[in-house]
Amino acid sequence: MKRIAVFASGNGSNAENIIRYFRSPGHDGAEVAVVVCNRPDAKVIERAERLGVPVCVMTRAEINDPQTMLGLMERHGVDIIVLAGFLLMVPEFLLGRYEGRIVNIHPSLLPKYGGKGMYGRHVHEAVVAAGESESGITIHHVSAECDGGRIIFQASVPVTPDDTPETVAGKIHALEAEHYARVIEREFVEAMK
Ligand code: GAR
Repeated sequence: MKRIAVFASGNGSNAENIIRYFRSPGHDGAEVAVVVCNRPDAKVIERAERLGVPVCVMTRAEINDPQTMLGLMERHGVDIIVLAGFLLMVPEFLLGRYEGRIVNIHPSLLPKYGGKGMYGRHVHEAVVAAGESESGITIHHVSAECDGGRIIFQASVPVTPDDTPETVAGKIHALEAEHYARVIEREFVEAMK
């Protein structure tokens, strides 16, 4: 069974969906072994704890320290790293150790609305301000470039003139819930058996 570390900084709806997905019948090829969080007030902590998943709250300095971070990954036997609303850059030593095994979800159709500062509601505000007729999600490998790794999967959703950043966020979260865990399973669990 593959062991997943979910890295998250905020609400944690994706983290929760992924934990639940790999506990549901027929999806036992992986499990979430640990949640890593860099914000002590993030809702993801409560969500993971409620589901009995160990949570490790770490400072940026700890995350960027090879001994601390690789030690944690080793202790939990982590095979795959899944970013789910994680707002720090992944340190280079982790990119090296987990090459091809780190995945991120971004709430737009990359390369549009990606890069530094483009996360969460900032993305949806920009999409609405630009009058876009669609938005979507991108699931991609993580590289040293912000939102720049190879794209694995995209799905789109219409944006209408009466949409607000909040309604777009709702549509995007629904797409994320539908696809993220499934794509992780296909690309990182089934394919790496
Ligand atoms: C998600 O929409 C995710 O795509 C986005 O943050 C949200 C986290 O929601 N990620 C980024 O913007 C990364 N650049 P969640 O905490 O409820 O899973």
